[in-house]
Order: sequence, then C-alpha cells, then structure tokens
Amino acid sequence: PPPFFFGAATAAYQIEGFREAGGRQPSVWDAFDTDNMSPAMPARKPNGEPNVHKNESGKIADRDYANFPQTTELLQHYGFDAYRMSLSWTRILSRPTVNEAGIQHYVEVLQGLKAAGLLVAVTMWHWDTPLVVEEWAQLTQCAETNQYTRDTTGSAWLCPAIADLFAEYAQVVTSRLDHYVDHWITLNEPLTVVGVGYAPPAKHAPGRCADRSLCWAGNDTIEPYYAAKNMMRAHAKAYRAYDGGSPMGFAANADWFEPVSGCAADHHAAANAIVWQIGLFWDLLATGDWAPEIAKAVPHPRLPSLSAEDKVLLRGAHGSVYYQNMYTSHYAWAPPSFGTDNSAGTGSINHVTGHVIGPVAPGSGWLRFTPTGLPKLQRWIAARYAALDLKIVVTENGWGGQYPTEQDAINDMQRCQYYRQYIGNMSKYVPEDGTYENGPLILSKQKPTILGYFAWSLLDNYEWNDGYSQRFGITHVEFCGARNDRTCMQKRTPKMSGSWFAEVLK
Ligand code: NOJ
Repeated sequence: PPPFFFGAATAAYQIEGFREAGGRQPSVWDAFDTDNMSPAMPARKPNGEPNVHKNESGKIADRDYANFPQTTELLQHYGFDAYRMSLSWTRILSRPTVNEAGIQHYVEVLQGLKAAGLLVAVTMWHWDTPLVVEEWAQLTQCAETNQYTRDTTGSAWLCPAIADLFAEYAQVVTSRLDHYVDHWITLNEPLTVVGVGYAPPAKHAPGRCADRSLCWAGNDTIEPYYAAKNMMRAHAKAYRAYDGGSPMGFAANADWFEPVSGCAADHHAAANAIVWQIGLFWDLLATGDWAPEIAKAVPHPRLPSLSAEDKVLLRGAHGSVYYQNMYTSHYAWAPPSFGTDNSAGTGSINHVTGHVIGPVAPGSGWLRFTPTGLPKLQRWIAARYAALDLKIVVTENGWGGQYPTEQDAINDMQRCQYYRQYIGNMSKYVPEDGTYENGPLILSKQKPTILGYFAWSLLDNYEWNDGYSQRFGITHVEFCGARNDRTCMQKRTPKMSGSWFAEVLK
C-alpha cells in the first residue's frame, strides 16, 4: 500500500571512478584491484592470478563522480520514487580530519536528488574500508583471532577497535547529511564480506583464507565469525550514536533455500542454511546473542564469546526495518555424513527429483531465476523475527550477466521477466500445501509489510571481482574508459528493462 516506493540502487566504488579527486584516499578495493598500491593488500593472489577479472579496476567505472547529474535525470526519466546510493568513507574521512571536499561533493549529489523529489537511502559502507585502516590492523596485531591461530597478521574487521572507527565515521556523515537522507544503511551485505572476503575463494577484499595458493594470510575456520561479530558491533555503535529521525539498519543479503524433499531432515537443512546467512547477523540484534543453532554447532573459540557489554550494545540495535538484498535460491538437503557448520548440503539441482532450481544468468556462476524464493524468504524473516514486527525494504534485487554485443545487452528481455516475476510475487506468494508452516522451515502466515523496493542496478557498473564482465544495469553503460580517449564519457543508454520500469511506474 502507499507510501510504497520503487527505486534503483548503486554503490560508490562501483560507479564513481575519480579515485584521486577531491582528496579521496584509497580503500581496500583500490589496492585489491590495482597492482603495487600496498604491501598489505596485493592485487594478485599467491598463485599469480589477478584478484579481479582481467585486472580491471574501479579507476574509471561509470565516471559518476562527475556524471552524477545524469544519474538524477535517469531516475526521473524512468519515474522512480527513490534512489539508494553509498558514500565513499575515504572521500569523507581521512583520520583525524573531515575532508570538506568530500562532504561538499555528497551535499551536491543529495541536493540534486532531493530537488527531483526523490526519497534517498544512503549506505555508509559498501565494502570500501579505508586502506589505511587495513594496514594499521595488520601492523598492530589487534586481531582477536591471533591468540588462537599462528597467523600474526590482522585485518580491519577482526579488530574490535574497528567498531569505534566506523561509529566515528557514521557520526560524521549523519551529523552532516541527515537532512537529505530518508533511510540510513550502515553496512552493506556483511555476509558477503565474511563469506568471500574472509573465506575461500576469497574473491573479495581483504582476500583472506587458509589456502596459501589463494590467500596471503588468514584462517577461515575462525576469522569469519569474528568478522561477523565486529561488523555487527560497528553497526550497533553507529546505530546507538544516531539521534536523527530516519530509520537505520544494515542491508542483509540471503538466498532462499528450498528443501529437496518433505523430510524433516531436509527442512532442517534448508532452515539452517538460512540461519547461517540471516541469523548469523540478525539474531545478534534481535536477542543480543548468537543464533542458538550457530552457538550449538560452532564451539568456542571458533565462535567468539560476547561480553555483557556487547550483548547490551547489540540487542535491539535496529529500527524495526529489515533491509533485504535478495537475488536467487538453491536446493538444500541434509548431508549424508560429514557436515559443514550449517549441516546443510546446497546446490542448484534437486538430486531427488532432478529439477534445476531455475535458469542461470548468462555467464554467471551463481545467479538463478527463482522468483518465488523472494516472498518465501520474506515470510521466513517475518516468522523468525515475529516479535520484532519488522517492516521490509528490498534494497537490492536484480539480474546480471555477460552479453556478446551491445545490442544483446540492451535487448534484455530476461531481465524484464526477472523484474516482472520477482516484483509480481513479492509478499503475495503463500505456499499452497502448508508444508512449510508444519515443518521446521517455518514461514509466516501473515503477509509481511514491504515498504519499498530497489532494483539493482540503475547502471551497469564495476562488478567487483568480475570487473566489467557482468552487467547488472537497467541502463547500459559504454565502458570505453580504458580506450583513454578524451571523448569517452561512459555513455548511458536505457535498456529494455529500463523502459519496462518506466511503463510499469507510469
Ligand atoms: C550485491 C552487492 O551489494 C552489489 O554490490 C553487487 O553488485 C550485487 N550484489 C550483484 O552481485
């Protein structure tokens, strides 16, 4: 119901380029994708492979640092009500000083969006931790995990002090920019950073894991849980320090897991797989403690203990809004013998029925078309956190792939189908057989309240370790920057899916 809003989303490092403009300092991603920036963060793995596809980088991206007025125009052209963007921490804060040029840049961006009548959601950290913090963490051996491993290197999210540094940055941006911001999102997808930044294949910064052909440092039997804890402490400190009026939360990504059969064990496996994605973070905010399933399966010291102070800090550090990033689904089953921590086997093929969960996006290693997974996951969230009465904002949902020609990329019929089906199913779908309500995989019978929806992404952009090879935009961007041609402006062209949105929104 109104005031439901439709918007599109982007993130600073994926679109801005202009890495040295206005006093910006490097982030961990600058070093992760560009050779010889920091001994603390090589751009190549020990096996010599570059971290990013074809050694591409965020150096030019969509030139949005300069092209941002076009971004507002595009949003208006499509008829969106809202925009989700992120701030670059290292444009704004180079400790101990606030960089006024950085603040001024975002004031201009936000003023333009507000003058266009858009609702604005702002993410404070979309993975671009200051490089100087990562370097400092490595030198000071502040990692809590060091006492349990032979690894003496640290990393930002393993150090308890990161929570204070992040809260300090959050305090700067909320005190200077609150006026323009309707939803504050502290952290984007902590699960992704924990899952592929601190564990194999370590394809995202900081690129840590125990396999020394893939990672220079790290120990993934223990670090992911410490990183998760410190991320939520950072979020909670930022949340506690904020005294403005907009809702504040973090964007939690998760997939839907469909049990391969009606057996209770497979239902348990599917539920556990979701707990290890959502409960790992949200239970900390809901109860001030680890999800019981995780606490039971993962013994100390692999699972860090929480001090009495941490528990008080974490419990209730949310504004009752669940910011949901969702793209895809998998099958889940109870593993026959050895289990991983979550005691679930997962994959895209149901070995019982032979069904494939959904068609795969062209050239994608993970993204499958599974539109009923979105409402099911929303109902799972509503059921698990029923006591919190959460309202949901979909902060990311989208389809990305590789396309042989520009014409193929622009005539993106599959993406139109994706949006039509995911949005059409959102919050509506009720499992007809009632199986889920009876099994361990509990879904809410009540329709969750969805406040708004953001498509990922407004623009084709820098897709992290996939570089520019994966296009997620509803707008095509000509990646001509590498030509080093002064007339090249990373030209933007609406795709069929952009026109589809314009029609629907009308
Ligand atoms: C999640 C991330 O937040 C975003 O940065 C990324 O581009 C999309 N998913 C697509 O993989």
